[in-house]
Amino acid sequence: MIQSKKTIAIVATGGTIAGSGRIGESAQYQAGTLSVVSILETIPQINNLAELQVHPFCSKDSNDITHDDLIQLKNFVEEIERDPNVDGIVITHGTDTLEETAFFLNLTLNVHKPVIMTGAMRPATATSADGPMNLYQSVALAANPNAIDLGVLVVIGDTIYSGRDLTKINSIKTDAFEVAAPGPVGYMQDDQVYLIHSPYRRHTHYSQFAHSTYPFDKKVEIFYVHLNCDPDLLRYMLDHYDGVVLAGTGAGNYPSQIKEVIQNYQGDCTIVRSSRLLEGAAFDSPIFDPLQKTIPAHRLSAHKARILLLLGLSNHCSKEQLRQLYKEY
Ligand code: SIN
Repeated sequence: MIQSKKTIAIVATGGTIAGSGRIGESAQYQAGTLSVVSILETIPQINNLAELQVHPFCSKDSNDITHDDLIQLKNFVEEIERDPNVDGIVITHGTDTLEETAFFLNLTLNVHKPVIMTGAMRPATATSADGPMNLYQSVALAANPNAIDLGVLVVIGDTIYSGRDLTKINSIKTDAFEVAAPGPVGYMQDDQVYLIHSPYRRHTHYSQFAHSTYPFDKKVEIFYVHLNCDPDLLRYMLDHYDGVVLAGTGAGNYPSQIKEVIQNYQGDCTIVRSSRLLEGAAFDSPIFDPLQKTIPAHRLSAHKARILLLLGLSNHCSKEQLRQLYKEY
């Protein structure tokens, strides 16, 4: 029996994958200047994988993605996903903040169909650009029924990552992403999909944030801990923001002067403690936080813990509910 081809919608947001510069060079270029259609023209074999729709969303360097963009992107993707003719969605995105958008969408998209994000480290005009293969493999994964209900996935460099777990660790190599244990969700070989495990934490339609309201009306920032860091800066942040995420040393630790500010703090700002390490984790600490003034971020990085806190505070979660979020997501 001949199976009909799947239909995959490609949502373009910009990034290096759509970047252009001097022909052949990788370093100097402008992100988000080319259309996805021009990249698709360089890989005609992609049309054997699926019928393709292209939906331009924005043409940004991902450093310029805003909270409003995130909410609009969520709504845009959900609208496309509701089209019964669409079987899966691929989102092209800059790699610099890809993990933040991926985590946000993983927490908020009310979808069942595969949503795959991808990007590139070399602009489309570079010698041996990596974007076309990443896009090709993303379309193959989006058309694969085994990618249903796995949350937002990311395909870069022949590897399938969970949108919750991946982190950009390299600013030069095409193999720029990494995940701490238990490792990637799977691998790609050309258009073949090899899945290893499924993400465990709540995502997409299983997430409470897929069924809640927006926009964000809270301000949450990150305080980066280092030796001799300024306690006055932390005091200022606690006075001016609704939430502060500490990117602590080791297991979410900090100098004594910072501990003193936190233990004496009586205001309403919510403080989350994360680790600044790639393989770091922060749990309750009777040594650094004997009065439990902070909420441990467990294995989330500071920038992902910030997104979850923003969602929790914007949805009026209590301190106890916020604590629970970091255990479940
Ligand atoms: C960006 O994040 O938009 C630029 C860098 C990249 O895509 O690799």
